[in-house]
Amino acid sequence: MKIGIDKIGFYTPHLYVDMKKLAVAREIEPEKFTIGIGQEKMALAPLTQDAVTLAANAALNILDEKDKEKIDLVIFGTESGIDHSKAAAIYVHHLLGLRSEARAFEIKQACYGATAGIQMAKGHIALNPESKVLVLGSDISRYGLNTSGEATQGAGAVALVISAEPSILAFEEQSAYVTADIMDFWRPIYSEAAFVDGKFSNEQYIQFFATAWAQYKAKTNLALKDFEAICFHLPYTKMGLKALKPVLLEEGSAADQERLLANYQVSTGYNRVVGNIYTGSLYLSLLSLLEQQEDLADGERIGLFSYGSGAVGEFFTGILQPGFRSHLNVVQHMDLLSSRAEVSVAEYEAIFQQTLPIDGTTVELDNTNDPAEIYLAGMTNNMRQYINKQTEDSIYS
Ligand code: HMG
Repeated sequence: MKIGIDKIGFYTPHLYVDMKKLAVAREIEPEKFTIGIGQEKMALAPLTQDAVTLAANAALNILDEKDKEKIDLVIFGTESGIDHSKAAAIYVHHLLGLRSEARAFEIKQACYGATAGIQMAKGHIALNPESKVLVLGSDISRYGLNTSGEATQGAGAVALVISAEPSILAFEEQSAYVTADIMDFWRPIYSEAAFVDGKFSNEQYIQFFATAWAQYKAKTNLALKDFEAICFHLPYTKMGLKALKPVLLEEGSAADQERLLANYQVSTGYNRVVGNIYTGSLYLSLLSLLEQQEDLADGERIGLFSYGSGAVGEFFTGILQPGFRSHLNVVQHMDLLSSRAEVSVAEYEAIFQQTLPIDGTTVELDNTNDPAEIYLAGMTNNMRQYINKQTEDSIYS
């Protein structure tokens, strides 16, 4: 039985910052951000969007009634959770009107969370072939104003329906994974922003890829020639290239280098204008490749490298399924990206510093400018009030 990605949805908030303008404001040469880091735009979440709403909006766009009947497991990968106890998956389960006979929970391991969810989903489908699993990767990446990580922030979510006999990508069985206890990036529970040892995190990412790739080759006897493309977790679009290049130079023929570098470029397209969305970043890169590389063909093998600081890395693969293209939402995603509004650096700084009450007071948020179907309407008694405009369903009000 094949198990893999049957549907893939994406959502990012309607606001962005132009990286050239951010560079000028920070007295940095714009090319450092656009070429050195490889980012053009950075998605910005208004207060009306959080990890829950971003994920729910990503899923809303892909689920039909048949999916809703079959989804009996919702796994939410995030490191931007809104509650230390209750899982973000339960809010999304409610907002999407999923069946009550279901499991729903949240997973945390930095940017690796959604990949952990996928691996669990594979096991669930193997035991329950009629089921479908909704895996969500949703985050708001925050390092803080005027920090070296600032240029690698972003916001967005990817929603994946994992099923038997999938329409888009069937995962292969073998996978290679690595864990090591390192402090390259972390966010203590009292901090809104992440702490990072930037250079060390880059080195570790590269090392984890090299180790996982070596293990994968030993397990499978496959080589670079067997891959049409390799997608990476992309904290910024230069990062995957730094890991791929040494392997390509050492092991790749001229044809491998040309093909994999060209496809790498395509696979960075959406990430370049969204920024780091942590758990969803690898899958946003996969989406860029699938939706923007017109030469991809059924039966081709795609490699996927997932990295979550702290750290866990995993290299796994999938085979493109016949007719996969007709199951993508290219126009919808292009519209989502092109209809966003730019904010000035001053506006970004003001939005970035807005916070929700932490003393139980009631607040109503103005969503006039937020086009999202699902949004955070406010807070009361320490509870977030969510609204789905389509069903006019509101949680807890
Ligand atoms: P930095 O110190 O601001 O930048 O940190 P830099 O000095 O290293 O420069 C960056 C690049 O720009 C360099 O190129 C420069 O040469 C180039 P490289 O040597 O790397 O190829 N450059 C220029 N290029 C063209 N024209 C110019 C110019 N000037 C300089 N004029 C850093 C950059 C990414 C470290 C920082 O932004 C940071 O700490 N970001 C956050 C951490 C991060 O993204 N780490 C990545 C690996 S860890 C990971 O992926 C996990 C993560 O997603 C979290 C999770 O798992 O949850 C982060």
